[in-house]
Amino acid sequence: MGRKFFVGGNWKCNGTISEVKKIVTILNEAEVPSEDVVEVVVSPPFVFLSYVKSLLRSDFQVAAQNCWVRRGGAFTGEISAEMLVNLGIPWVIIGHSERRQILNESNEFVGEKVGYALSQGLKVIACVGETLEQRESGTTVTVVATQINAIADKVSSWENIVLAYEPVWAIGTGKVATPAQAQEVHFELRKWLQGNVGAEVAASTRIIYGGSVNGANCKELSTQPDVDGFLVGGASLKPEFIDIIKSATVKTEEG
Ligand code: PGA
Repeated sequence: MGRKFFVGGNWKCNGTISEVKKIVTILNEAEVPSEDVVEVVVSPPFVFLSYVKSLLRSDFQVAAQNCWVRRGGAFTGEISAEMLVNLGIPWVIIGHSERRQILNESNEFVGEKVGYALSQGLKVIACVGETLEQRESGTTVTVVATQINAIADKVSSWENIVLAYEPVWAIGTGKVATPAQAQEVHFELRKWLQGNVGAEVAASTRIIYGGSVNGANCKELSTQPDVDGFLVGGASLKPEFIDIIKSATVKTEEG
């Protein structure tokens, strides 16, 4: 079954109106493979979401970087899934390691958020990944299995989920996982889906890699059979993001 290549750009907490305008101009002028080959989703901070959506070419989509765990109400500082839907924002990133680590979001909380966002009609980029200590102590597979399990507990369909494997030690460090390291964990995640959710979901769910992906290392990573795209932080704010989008053709060339 063909899994369409997926490239997400996570802008994190960066940008001014003029910087955002510049990035969008670069994206809008770029020649990239067609929508049949690659799905491109960029994720500006909440305050720029509508602005970016209004300027961005129609074959690219936008994602929020987070949303509240339940229905909106008296939750100062939060943004609800309902609001994103109301604004026509199709995607949301949930469970990014920066939120897990810095804001103490637990596996269960992340699972609940994914479940609620899906129930409101959002599509979700759900993130998992181990720390350096966990990798060095040999618990990587257990850690990501526990994280994906907490998500699986709260969802009834995987149709609108893209799973992002983002080792914490690779995020923003310039220390990218080797293609073999990425493939190993992607394979284990797919195997987990196969054993715990079903063969069809395992075959159709996109598993993307994130952590220091750039224009120079994306091609080799994309040759890995279980790497279905990327979630890109730092390099998504630069023109090389276009090269990362173009790495989708590595898959079609493989046929
Ligand atoms: P990075 O971030 O590409 O800057 O390492 C990836 C991410 O956090 O999604």
